[in-house]
Formats: sequence, C-alpha cells, structure tokens
Amino acid sequence: MAMDWMPVVITLPDAEATYALGHYLGQHLPIGTVILLMGDLGSGKTTLVKGLAAALGITEPINSPTFTLINEYEQGRLPLYHVDLYRLEAAAADQLYLESYWDGSEFVPGIMAIEWSEHLGHHPPEPLELRLSYHDAGRQATLRPSTPCQAALLETLPDAILANEI
Ligand SMILES: Nc1ncnc2c1ncn2[C@@H]1O[C@H](COP(=O)(O)OP(=O)(O)O)[C@@H](O)[C@H]1O
Ligand SMILES: [Mg+2]
Repeated sequence: MAMDWMPVVITLPDAEATYALGHYLGQHLPIGTVILLMGDLGSGKTTLVKGLAAALGITEPINSPTFTLINEYEQGRLPLYHVDLYRLEAAAADQLYLESYWDGSEFVPGIMAIEWSEHLGHHPPEPLELRLSYHDAGRQATLRPSTPCQAALLETLPDAILANEI
C-alpha cells in the first residue's frame, strides 16, 4: 500500500526565502531524488533551483532551460539535471526519455529538478513534489513527500527555514 504523508507548507515572503529552501534541499536530499516543480510562470521555480545548485557546489549560472529543455551540471558534489517542460505537451515530454536519468541506466545518479512537471506524461517512482503558489497572504511552497526519507527531512526542517530567517 502506498504511504501518504502530510504535505508541508512554507511561506516564501521573498526570493531569498525561495532560494534558501532550494539550498536546504540541495544540502539534504539523497542522491537520485527527482523534484517535480509545479507553479505558474514567475512563481520561483528557477530561483529554487539556483539555491539547490549552489548547495551542490555548482558555480555556473543557472537559467531556465526553456529552449534547451535539459541542462546538465556536472561540476558539483552530485550532478544536477535541470529540466523545463514549459513548451512541451505530455506526449512530447515523454519523448525526452527522462527516465534514463532517474533509473540510472544512462546517467550518473544525481538530483533532478523538473520545472513544469505538470507536463510530464509519466512520473518517476518516488518524486518530491514541490508546488509554488501565490495567495492573498503571499507566496508559498507546498511540499509533498513520497518516501519516508523525504517525509523525515520535511518534518525536521529547521525553524530558520520555516520562519524565513536564512
Ligand atoms: N518568494 C518570492 N517572493 C517574491 N519574489 C520571488 C520569490 N521567489 C522568486 N521570486 C522572483 O520572481 C521572479 C521569477 O522567478 P523564477 O524563479 O524565474 O520563476 P519561474 O522559474 O517559476 O518562472 C524572479 O525575479 C525571482 O527573483
Ligand atoms: Mg523558470
């Protein structure tokens, strides 16, 4: 039976908070994690990936791979695979064979971050879902774990992240 964990909601008052959340995840997520990023244009997906990349020790500039579709960064502690499916429909997204990144068949395992993962036809087995949204009260991230390890990580987020003090 698939386990269901409570989602964790974090308020993100400014871009630094989004970056800090990405940075924390980059420090703590296990190798092989696929982050499904969801949220409108401008909601902070790339900002979060910038924090993630910095935590992995990547110093190259990070931009949305809107046209290249996949950017691979290999200079850090773990490889980062950054995907942007904004321009693709599910059928076209499936033709990218992204599973060759997450099943270990072709690429060195690392961390994968997929912007516009709403456009994915099929999902990786144990993704970390991260939805960025706007509300009257401000912006927030909703994180939905799918493994005990991800759930434990979210349960132990430091107060500094929850209170946006980093
Ligand atoms: N929590 C936030 N509050 C305010 N502005 C933010 C926040 N997160 C990101 N931004 C800003 O929003 C803009 C768009 O962010 P970006 O990460 O490019 O979004 P996306 O990749 O989702 O289109 C950037 O100028 C970024 O600095
Ligand atoms: Mg982007």
